Amino acid sequence: MRNFTNVHDIGDLKAAVAEALEVKKDRYAYTALGRNKTMLMIFFNSSLRTRLSTQKAAMNLGMNTMVLDINQGAWKLETERGVIMDGDKPEHLLEAIPVMGCYCDIIGVRSFARFESKEDDYSEKILNQFIDYSGRPVVSMEAATRHPLQSFADLITIEEHKETPRPKVVMTWAPHPRSLPQAVPNSFAEWMNETDYDFVITHPEGYELDPKFVGKAKVEYDQKKALEGADFVYAKNWAAYTDPNYGKIINTDRSWTVGVEHMALTNNAQFMHCLPVRRNMIVTDDVIEGPRSLVIPEAANREISAQVVLKRILESL
Ligand code: CP
Repeated sequence: MRNFTNVHDIGDLKAAVAEALEVKKDRYAYTALGRNKTMLMIFFNSSLRTRLSTQKAAMNLGMNTMVLDINQGAWKLETERGVIMDGDKPEHLLEAIPVMGCYCDIIGVRSFARFESKEDDYSEKILNQFIDYSGRPVVSMEAATRHPLQSFADLITIEEHKETPRPKVVMTWAPHPRSLPQAVPNSFAEWMNETDYDFVITHPEGYELDPKFVGKAKVEYDQKKALEGADFVYAKNWAAYTDPNYGKIINTDRSWTVGVEHMALTNNAQFMHCLPVRRNMIVTDDVIEGPRSLVIPEAANREISAQVVLKRILESL
């Protein structure tokens, strides 16, 4: 594998999950692979899980790791070509990227949607510049349209916890006070569509995702109907994708917050969320703390998904 930015980069999902479960049994079996290799992690946005789990995964493989928060201590970066740089940004991304590539063997990048231009966000302008100009393999640590390390960890978690061969997985929109990117729901849908699960997306009207990611999923606007018989409930907020509301909050209906009455409609479903989560907006305390909540094992699997991805890239160097 050269780069990891979407589900297609990982190839056969059954093989990827099998490899993940092998790695999980003995995560220190490959420490020689990363000897004298350096992982550089670049963050344009905040992170807890991605930062720690990816760094841990790299260390499990024997790699050295470096972390750079672009907004804390680095020069402010201009990202647009053709700009007369007479403002507050002293360095251009087009020099910064190849320089970063000089100091490492693999680059991880976190760069969220900015909601300034749908075209820029959905063309993955920042992530693709790293791929084009760093000279190094690039791992998406959540980009504008996808969060593949999270989706891979979600898939591993479902495979570990499913109680039926072909579970019903329901991804439900839930309210949130701030505009959040579509990267997690897009990516989760992209990965679920590559499985044989019964996959349903439910959201209020106006929150339709890019059809490219919805794929063959069933879309049900009635949340309660969607939840009937669910084996897994994956809650997530996202801002509107469709024009003219791209990046906007158009609904704050708290009846979509996942509570015990919602979970009672399901087939004793297990609850999932990528975290961080706003309690009693997305999900109630009772559900997230309940015995069917998978949020902690799901976060733990972030180390495993990252380790499989880095292992495969190291094997190809
Ligand atoms: N789920 C996830 O990516 O968490 P962080 O934003 O904390 O990295």
